[in-house]
Amino acid sequence: MTVQESREEIVARVKERADIVQIIGETVDLKKSGARYLGLCPFHGEKTPSFSVHSGQQFFHCFGCGESGDVLSYMMKYHNLDFPSALKELAARYSITLPEKSRSPEQEKQEKARKQMFDVSKKVSEIYSRYLHSSSHASAARQYLARRNIPESIQKTFGLGYAPSTDSEGWDYLSGQLSTYDREAALEAGLLVKKENGGTYDRFRDRVLFPISELSGRVCGFGGRIIGEGQPKYLNSPESPIYNKSRLLLGLYQQKDAIRHKNQAIIVEGNFDLISLVSNGCENVVAPLGTALTREQLRLLKRFADEVVLLFDGDVAGVKAAIRSVPFFLAEQISGRVALLPSGHDPDTFIQEKGLGAIEQLVADAENLPEFVFNQLVEEFGLTLNGKSKIVEELRPLVKAAASPLQRSVVVSHFAEQLGLSSQQLDDMLDKPDAPPLPEEPPFERPEPPIRIEDRVVPLTAQQKRLVNFMVLNPECLPKLESGGIRECLGGSIGEILFLQLKALRQHNDEMEPEELLSVLPEGAERKYVADLLFDAPDVASDTEATVAEVEELVEWMSINTLKIASRKLLGEINKIATTSDFAKLQELLQEKQKIDRKLQGLEI
Ligand code: UTP
Ligand code: MN
Repeated sequence: MTVQESREEIVARVKERADIVQIIGETVDLKKSGARYLGLCPFHGEKTPSFSVHSGQQFFHCFGCGESGDVLSYMMKYHNLDFPSALKELAARYSITLPEKSRSPEQEKQEKARKQMFDVSKKVSEIYSRYLHSSSHASAARQYLARRNIPESIQKTFGLGYAPSTDSEGWDYLSGQLSTYDREAALEAGLLVKKENGGTYDRFRDRVLFPISELSGRVCGFGGRIIGEGQPKYLNSPESPIYNKSRLLLGLYQQKDAIRHKNQAIIVEGNFDLISLVSNGCENVVAPLGTALTREQLRLLKRFADEVVLLFDGDVAGVKAAIRSVPFFLAEQISGRVALLPSGHDPDTFIQEKGLGAIEQLVADAENLPEFVFNQLVEEFGLTLNGKSKIVEELRPLVKAAASPLQRSVVVSHFAEQLGLSSQQLDDMLDKPDAPPLPEEPPFERPEPPIRIEDRVVPLTAQQKRLVNFMVLNPECLPKLESGGIRECLGGSIGEILFLQLKALRQHNDEMEPEELLSVLPEGAERKYVADLLFDAPDVASDTEATVAEVEELVEWMSINTLKIASRKLLGEINKIATTSDFAKLQELLQEKQKIDRKLQGLEI
């Protein structure tokens, strides 16, 4: 008996043998530059090369878009393969034989049954499509589609069909079209339904059918819309070994190239929204199958685009659906935006009435998902102390869903700033299931209007910037900077987020390299800031003497700065107290401020 290599061993062997420079070199023109190779990034459009490949460490990184990984992730991303296929491809290239998967007879049987279900689904979709286009009993269906302005070309692209009504074909049309062998599989796939007293009847009757394909294009189920009025409006295939609605997206197979090309996927709620948008020229669209968006669906989309825009009805359900999806966006680290349609419209009616330009405008103006959620919560609860506590409650599940401690810190920091709390305060409140009431005086005023994450780069002062840059490039100095009060000095800025992330990274590995920050930062201003910084940083080993001198200078600046912050805060409190007659408290605060100011004078000379 031969001992089977573990999956990890095989992966390691393939990675060892594959040369990342050679593999990437097949698709990108690489030029040697020092210890690495540079080229134009294949994952985003650029004119100057910021895509680098390290042959030593066998990884690639783009300083422009932040994409990075090893040879396997390159194969997956570039050729759009899943992990096993990327592994297979590389193994074949380097003549490594992968062990055959051994399957139990039970697995073989299931595999065979699935194949039969796929085969019959394909046949059924052809039967119904032919019926739609050629049967005289389908003229009402054809008229229905024409009335909804769905051109024949689009009907063909999506393989639309029509399941006849019982009036024209009775209850048992489909099985008459299938062999005994196929009927079994059709029953399994829910296309035929067993009758109590034996025999079967058709699941879909008098409905326009949307075949649902998996990514490979194999039909695995159907969604059927009733012609005209009736209940239920849509009837879908039941869950089966080949149909799992939470892992499928209507339109993904047909529209994936458009999505990749735009690097953006628009999600609409309805089947007709999808085909109506596509037929009007808005092509990067998909629709979930009548269920709330799932994490699996987002993971699918992530293979084709970096951004997802939810284009939902402006009703309460649409808003709630958007809010519920936040955890998945966080967990998958994909950026999300939301656009709501004006009331009374869905994407289908909107594009038919206002045209492609209007839809494109809506999508362009879509709000960032976290901001959208926050604004919705503010609208619902207000920003009174009580309202803020309620908002914190609503945020708890969202924060809980963050994929990593790092991401949690990004999210907390983002919402803390919007709530006018320090990150620490919000952290504490979120940690406790029964959040204590907020302190009577919020520690600082909420910035108005809310600052977008992107804009946080701007408020860094020159000195703060120096601090942030030094911190990022010299993570080994973090403990020193922390005890010097760096978090307070960067409070609420992009720098605070970077600090928290570095700190979390160092907890796993205190010898981390600055580049590692890039692999954990989600898409956005923070990552861009770090990427730009690293790209511009001189490529020399850091000079320890200079580093020590710089830390000292920075620590000194921070001690002055923290005193200034404290003094300013006291002044605020003094001004408030001054209007009351609490002279004892006033006296106390004044004395404290004097002490700080004296210290400051001493330091600043
Ligand atoms: P809507 O009720 O918003 O319908 O359902 P719609 O898409 O605008 O439908 P039209 O324009 O009247 O034809 C949105 C989606 O939810 C699913 C369908 O996928 C539908 O497109 N749905 C809806 C169901 O699965 N079952 C239903 O009974 C209703
Ligand atoms: Mn509609």
